Amino acid sequence: MRGAFITFEGCEGSGKSTQIRLLSEKLTAIGADFIITREPGGSDVAEQIRKIILDGKNVAMCDECEALLYAAARIQHLKEIVEPALAAGKLVICDRYVDSSLAYQGAARGLGEKYIEDINAVALDCYPPDLTVFLNISPERAFERKHGADKGDRMEQQGINFHRRVYEGYLSLLKKYPRICAVECGGTKYETAERVFALLKEKGLI
Ligand code: TYD
Repeated sequence: MRGAFITFEGCEGSGKSTQIRLLSEKLTAIGADFIITREPGGSDVAEQIRKIILDGKNVAMCDECEALLYAAARIQHLKEIVEPALAAGKLVICDRYVDSSLAYQGAARGLGEKYIEDINAVALDCYPPDLTVFLNISPERAFERKHGADKGDRMEQQGINFHRRVYEGYLSLLKKYPRICAVECGGTKYETAERVFALLKEKGLI
């Protein structure tokens, strides 16, 4: 049986990495067959593309180039890592996916939804996630949390207004796609992890 594809989305500092780690502990405890991967990157070629995209020195990169590089890394990662794992019946947990492009490049950079949908047609049509977990925390709160831990990559160098547009972008995606479910992050990381786990159960994915 084909596996299931679960993606995590949210603003910078929303706690995706922590939540994915806590989920992986729970999945290991129940003996689930799963892999954890991430975008941009997750495979050798895609990780090389990631370096170019996030390099703080690449200030000359235009928005279209950025969007196309994310799409290029995505398709490589899908073919090399995601598709074989799904075909082997595994649960694939991916840190960011096409919704990041819709929110960051489509909404915040202003390239628009249509452009991002067009360059990501294969991802959207052939590999729609079974569930997208959106960690719902405002960019202001997320920024506070992340304070002091910034890596200063090209996306993190953008100001708060950019990240507000990213968040607004996510909120409109939430209305459009029923596969996206918001998880509130008001409490402790363990409370959020319980909510995430309960959501996967409710959707019949574990
Ligand atoms: P990463 O260090 O993985 O950030 P985070 O820990 O917040 O996930 O860097 C990924 C960056 O790339 C992040 O700023 C979001 C951005 N991004 C896009 O702008 N578009 C995309 O399609 C993807 C996948 C990521």
